[in-house]
Amino acid sequence: APSRKFFVVGNWKMNGQKQNLGELIGTLNTAKVPADTEVVRQKLDPKTAVAAQNCYKVTNGDFTGEISPGMIKDCGATWVVLGHSERRHVFEESDELIGHKVAHALSEGLGVIACIGEKLDEREAGITEKVVFQQTKVIADNVKDWSKAVLAYEPMWAIGTGKTATPQQAQEVHEKFRGWLESNVSEALAQSTGIIYGGSVTGATYKELASQPDVDGFLVGGASLKPKKKNDYINRC
Ligand code: G3P
Repeated sequence: APSRKFFVVGNWKMNGQKQNLGELIGTLNTAKVPADTEVVRQKLDPKTAVAAQNCYKVTNGDFTGEISPGMIKDCGATWVVLGHSERRHVFEESDELIGHKVAHALSEGLGVIACIGEKLDEREAGITEKVVFQQTKVIADNVKDWSKAVLAYEPMWAIGTGKTATPQQAQEVHEKFRGWLESNVSEALAQSTGIIYGGSVTGATYKELASQPDVDGFLVGGASLKPKKKNDYINRC
């Protein structure tokens, strides 16, 4: 049986300043985390991992405004989020660029949370699978060692909208996605890779989502900025 570790990430995006983040950090530092759950948080004590929200596809050079995996490691972070829909659609990053970034960050030893997901019109047009498989294919074409990659399914219509995918919708995509990995990468990898869900996950919705066999954790945006609710997400039902 697969022994995937439940994996929870708080994505604070471009929010917060020292003062108000202090409260969040205090809450997280005192949270009880089940031993079988890995939590990725930003700016916290050493018992927790820290993730950057982006990085570039090369080691160093003249790339004003970019950061490299080496710089991220230098700051003590061990993970990076890549391919978030805001990077894809607000900053116009292509599938190809994201594929290169994921491969490079992994080769530099960072863990990567690689995000994929369809837009509302793509879901309505019935091409969800086509879109997420294509996004994943470009990553797979570039990556050699997947062992430190976690895949995050974030349907764009569910991000910051308060409209969470139903547990069935999430499970359906995660299961097909695992099948895609099995056919296109390897059976072992399909079983070992964490596939987490993101998109308006809240204290009201996480339990049923977490009970789905192919939902291996969460990437939480807005709700991770609300300290009082935070503990809920790291307790598996
Ligand atoms: O990366 C997490 C994110 O995009 C989901 O945001 O606010 O819908 O939980 P939110």
